[in-house]
Amino acid sequence: VFPKVRNICCIGAGYVGGPTCAVLAWKCPDIKVTICDLSQPRIDAWNSDTLPIFEPGLSEIVFEARGRNLFFTTDVDNAIAEADLIFVSVNTPTKTSGVGAGVAADLCYVEAATRRIAALSRKGAIIVEKSTVPCRTAESMRQILSATSPQEGAVFEILSNPEFLAEGTAVEDLLDPARILIGALDTPRGQLAQRRLVEVYANWVAPKNILTTSLWSSELSKLAANALLAQRVSSINAIAAICEATGSNVFEVSNACGLDPRIGSQFLKAGLGFGGSCFQKDIFNLIYLSTSLNLPEVAEYWAQVLKMNEWTKSRFTRGVVKKMFSTITRKTIVCAGYAFKKDTGDIREAPAINVARDLMEDGACLRIYDPKVTAESIHESLKGFTYIDWATASAAGPWDLPQAGTYTICPSLDAALVNASALLFVTDWSEFKGLDLEWWTATHAKMTKPAMVFDGRDILNTAECAHLRKIGFGVEKTGVGHAI
Ligand code: UDX
Ligand code: UDX
Ligand code: ADP
Repeated sequence: VFPKVRNICCIGAGYVGGPTCAVLAWKCPDIKVTICDLSQPRIDAWNSDTLPIFEPGLSEIVFEARGRNLFFTTDVDNAIAEADLIFVSVNTPTKTSGVGAGVAADLCYVEAATRRIAALSRKGAIIVEKSTVPCRTAESMRQILSATSPQEGAVFEILSNPEFLAEGTAVEDLLDPARILIGALDTPRGQLAQRRLVEVYANWVAPKNILTTSLWSSELSKLAANALLAQRVSSINAIAAICEATGSNVFEVSNACGLDPRIGSQFLKAGLGFGGSCFQKDIFNLIYLSTSLNLPEVAEYWAQVLKMNEWTKSRFTRGVVKKMFSTITRKTIVCAGYAFKKDTGDIREAPAINVARDLMEDGACLRIYDPKVTAESIHESLKGFTYIDWATASAAGPWDLPQAGTYTICPSLDAALVNASALLFVTDWSEFKGLDLEWWTATHAKMTKPAMVFDGRDILNTAECAHLRKIGFGVEKTGVGHAI
């Protein structure tokens, strides 16, 4: 029933579908890969010289495979009709209203895509859920497919193949994945479909790294993996608060803990809290699932991970206000970085958004600089606040009192810092690291005194902190207390 895969369609050309299937096409020149999306501007961007998302190494891969065996189109129907394997990589945001508002995933895009597949796909097509979805979504898809397919005796098989790539390292993660997980029903047909997808990945992934499990284990593993990672970040952020209060250093503590192989060193970096499109959404999914399974203690356990994250974000802002003599009204504060992590232009759930909003509520004049985030997405995230363009903001003399609670987007960090009272490191961009001592001296000279630096992202090492204090800066680093 399921022939060897020659033609793949990916529904959804976003952060997951785009990079995943571009790498797949690059690695499998014999397979035709068509990535489709309803959004014409998104597809136009994928077909242009400036891709719609920034990921290190991605454009090289797209430019090489595009037009050879990789195609981007808005003709979703035709792409579905031609394919023998269909990835569903549409968005699954958290619901904002109705049953499960604020916690449950909104599956309307998954359902719409499934209905198109039912109507158009060829007999024997393999359907693969790639988007992060609540457990048992494959079962819902199966029901929709069998109830709505016009074909007599239609044969579909649904696999779960969650994506574990992290933004900023998507290409690396896809080329050399820690594991590929493929879940299928334990039936002869399910197993055959699973083998077909294993064959595709086997083009570049070692067999020992391709895991096959049941459908439900695969769906749950994705939620569990993200919840466990997020939990580590919340755990270390909780320790960071204790470090600050006790005059210790969370980076020393996490280093000491991480050397225990049972703990491991990754995902123990304290900071402003986690952002990104997955962690919060997946924990909400887990909370909703636990509640529906009548497991309130489990739901509460995971809810605490999110609560700690929200608290971590607001704690940073409270610290800034406190250190600036409890008032930041009309003070110019530079937000260095806006993306939720380095090497991406994505700001979904970025801690920077909370920081920016809270500081403006308190009357600050914010200057935002990020090397990759677009002005449109900054505006979108700060709706309701007044924007002052850079030409106006930079032309104002020191005697012009700035308007409280406003923001400006700056062309460079250097420009942003002129007459600023504080510099906040909000994203861990590499370009903020290792700034030389002359740069800091010149920066101190052009800032309003007392000039402050708030490092929420472990940008400055201990020697740099000491040097900055020596030249006159007030320096606060998240997770590092003053010796007591
Ligand atoms: C622990 C720490 O491991 C050790 O480094 C510290 O010095 C003292 O505390 P211990 O309590 O002796 O050591 O044993 P450990 O192997 O950590 O197990 C503690 C408990 O956790 C046991 O009941 C064990 O069964 C349980 N456990 C451990 C699990 O339930 N699951 C696991 O994956 C690991
Ligand atoms: C995450 C998972 O890592 C990935 O496997 C999954 O497929 C999608 O979700 P992503 O959200 O892209 O990936 O980035 P990640 O590197 O996990 O970072 C998430 C957030 O946690 C970022 O805001 C990051 O700054 C923060 N973080 C991460 C910390 O604050 N400390 C850490 O030690 C690690
Ligand atoms: P993710 O981070 O999960 O990849 P994105 O929002 O970046 O999420 O991408 C999802 C993409 O899926 C969007 O570009 C959206 O336009 C697209 N999409 C949603 N529903 C459909 C559909 N029924 N057919 C085709 N594309 C769709």
